[in-house]
Amino acid sequence: MSTFAPTNLPDILLIGATGRTGRLVLASALKRGHKVVALIRPSSYLSPQPNLTIFEGSPLDSAAITTALSLTSGPVVVISTLGQTRTSGNPFAATTSPRLFMSDSATAVVSAAKAFGPKVQKLVLMSMFGTGSSFTNLNFLMRATMLYSNMKQTLDDHNAVDGVIKNSGLVFVMPRPAMLKGEVALPVKILGDTGEKAGFMPSVSAQSVAKFMLDAISSEEWDGRTPVLSN
Ligand SMILES: NC(=O)c1ccc[n+]([C@@H]2O[C@H](COP(=O)([O-])OP(=O)(O)OC[C@H]3O[C@@H](n4cnc5c(N)ncnc54)[C@H](OP(=O)(O)O)[C@@H]3O)[C@@H](O)[C@H]2O)c1
Repeated sequence: MSTFAPTNLPDILLIGATGRTGRLVLASALKRGHKVVALIRPSSYLSPQPNLTIFEGSPLDSAAITTALSLTSGPVVVISTLGQTRTSGNPFAATTSPRLFMSDSATAVVSAAKAFGPKVQKLVLMSMFGTGSSFTNLNFLMRATMLYSNMKQTLDDHNAVDGVIKNSGLVFVMPRPAMLKGEVALPVKILGDTGEKAGFMPSVSAQSVAKFMLDAISSEEWDGRTPVLSN
C-alpha cells in the first residue's frame, strides 16, 4: 500500500464540487491539506478559499479539463462527483441533463488525462449501487424502480461511465454508493464489488462517501475496483 507524506499530497482536480457530495469532498480535501482545482460551470458558484482554484468550464470539454489540470502542480488525482440534474430534489424527478452527460464527461476526462500525461495518478469517480454487475444485487423493488422510472437515464449513464473508465487503461476507483442518506460520516461497510453482501435497503451518508473517495487517493487497495458502499 502506498501512502503520500502530508507534505507530498497530490493536488485534486474536482469535477462536481458544487453538488451534494462534491461540496463535502471539497471541504474535506482542503482540510486534509490538498490543493484543489474545482472545475465548475459558469452558472454555478463556489466561495473562494485558500488552496482552492476555481476554474469555469464545461466538464464535457476535454480542452477545459486539460486547462484545469494545468492549474495543478505535481501529481494530481481527478475526482468526479457529477450527477444528472433533475427538475427537483426528488431522485425520481425528471432529468434535465443530456442523456449521456456523465459518460460524455468521463470520455472528456480520459482524453484530457491522457493528453496531460503521467502526472495524473488516478481517477476517482462516484458511481452508484445498481451500476453494471451490481444491478442483480439490488432488491426487486429497486431493480424495478431503476428500470421503469426516471432513474433509468441515470442508470444508463452510470453504466456507460463504467465502460468508458474500465476501457481507459488509466488507474481508477469507482465506488458504487447505496442510497445517500444521513449526515454523519459513519464507518463505511464494503458490500463487495457487486453488492453481493447487500441487505434489503442499504444506505450511506454523502459524508462517508466523500471520506472514502479521499482515502482512496492514498491507497492502492481499491484501484481498478467498484466497491459498493453502505454504512
Ligand atoms: N442520490 C443517491 O441516493 C445516490 C446514490 C448513489 C450514487 N449517486 C450518484 O452520486 C453522484 C453524485 O450525487 P450528488 O447527489 O452528490 O450529486 P448532485 O448534488 O446532483 O450534484 C451534481 C453535480 O453535477 C454537476 N452538473 C450536473 N449537470 C451539469 C452540467 N450540465 N454541466 C456541468 N455540471 C453539471 C452539478 O453542477 P451544478 O451545481 O452547476 O448544477 C453538481 O456539481 C451522482 O452521479 C449520483 O447518480 C446518488
